[in-house]
Amino acid sequence: MPKSNDTHDTGYGSVPLSMRTVTVHGASLFEPRTGAVSTPIYQSSTFRHPGLGETTGFDYSRGINPTRTELEKTMALLEHGKYGLAFATGMGAISSVIKLFKPGDHLIVSEDLYGGTYRLFNEYYARYGLSFSWIDTSDTALVEASLKPNTRAIFIETPSNPMMKVTDIRRCAGLIHAQDGILVTDNTFLSPYFQNPLDLGSDLVVHSGTKYLAGHNDTLAGFIVHSRSDLAADLVNAQKSEGASLSPFDAWLTLRGIKTLSIRMEQHEKNARSIAHWLRSHKRVEKVFYTGFEDHPQYTLSRTQSRGFGGMISFYLKNAVDVPGLLKNISLILFAESLGGVESLLTYPLVQTHAAIPEAMRLSNGVNDRLMRLSVGIEDADDLIADLDSAFSKCV
Ligand SMILES: Cc1ncc(COP(=O)(O)O)c(C=O)c1O
Repeated sequence: MPKSNDTHDTGYGSVPLSMRTVTVHGASLFEPRTGAVSTPIYQSSTFRHPGLGETTGFDYSRGINPTRTELEKTMALLEHGKYGLAFATGMGAISSVIKLFKPGDHLIVSEDLYGGTYRLFNEYYARYGLSFSWIDTSDTALVEASLKPNTRAIFIETPSNPMMKVTDIRRCAGLIHAQDGILVTDNTFLSPYFQNPLDLGSDLVVHSGTKYLAGHNDTLAGFIVHSRSDLAADLVNAQKSEGASLSPFDAWLTLRGIKTLSIRMEQHEKNARSIAHWLRSHKRVEKVFYTGFEDHPQYTLSRTQSRGFGGMISFYLKNAVDVPGLLKNISLILFAESLGGVESLLTYPLVQTHAAIPEAMRLSNGVNDRLMRLSVGIEDADDLIADLDSAFSKCV
C-alpha cells in the first residue's frame, strides 16, 4: 500500500490540484499493488471470491472492473462530481440516463443536438410512454414556457451540435429544480477541461468519451458523472443491467487519452480560433458558427459558464454545389463522421451525424445542404488552412 504521504489526495478539497495535474495522474497516481504508473488493463471478465460472502470488491466485469473503476474515479474528479460511470459509448451512457424515468414523464430536450440522441429518444423511448419537447434551449423563456407539471428533466447539449448554440446551464437548473426534476448536460463539445456543468447546477453530465476525452479517434466511450446520492444506486444498476459497460482495454485507452487532455484542448482551441476567422473571410463561405466570435449571440454567456470555446466550427457554404468538391479535395483534413480527435475531420451533417432528424425539423434547426461541421485537430493551423484553401480553389 502507498505511504500516506504518497496518497494522491485530489478531491478538490483541502489541497486542490489543477485540472492539468489530475488529467495526467488520474484518480490514483499509481496502482497500489505493484506501483505501476500506467493503470494495468485488468482483462478479466470475472473475479475469484476468497470464500462465501467474501469479496475483493470485484465480481463480474459488466458491473465492475478495476481499470474501468480508475477511469470512473478520474472522470468524477475532472467533472467535479462524486460518482463516475463509464460506458461502451456515449449513446450507452445517455440510454442509461433515460432509465431514471417512467411512463408518463416528460422531458424538454435541445432540438439542436446529436442526431443519434434524437433517434434514441424519439424512435425508442417514445414507445415506452416518455414524451419529449424539442425546443431551442438557448432561449430560456421558451424553456420556461415549455415546462409541464410532468416535466421530469431538461436535457441539453451546450454548445449544441452542430449549430453551436449555448444554453444557460444555471438558469435551466433553476427552472427544473423548482419542480423537482433534473438537468442533464451533454458536455461532449467542451470536455471537462473547458466546462464543468455540475458546478453550474446540472445534476448529471454525460459525455461521448469517444471525442475529446479519448481524443485519438481510436476508441468509443461514454460517461455519466454526478453527485446525486439519491440517484447513484439506480444509475449503477442501470449500467450493470443494460450491459453497455466500457471494456477494460477501452478504459485504458481512454485513461491514456485523458493524460494529454489539457494540452490537446488548448491546441484544438488555438487552431479553431485561427480557422474560424479565416473561414469567415473566405469568398465561398456565407456564415461561420463559432462560439469564440465576440458577435456570437451567446458569447457573454459562454464567457461566464465556460473556460474556453473548444475546437468545433460549423459553416454555411454560399453554394451547395461546392460541397462535393470541398469533400473530395481536402487531403489533410479527413471527410469522416466524428469529432474531438487529434486529426481534423470535416463532416457533412445532412447525410452523416444528423441524417436521423426529420427534414422539417433539421431545416428549421439550420442543418441544410450547405452546412459543414469541422472538428479542428491539433495539426499546424497553417497546414489546415492551406488544405481548405486548396480544396476551395478546386471547387467548380
Ligand atoms: C454531442 C454528442 N453526444 C453524444 C454522442 C454519442 O456518442 P457515441 O458516438 O460515443 O455513442 C455524440 C456522437 O457523435 C455527440 O456528438
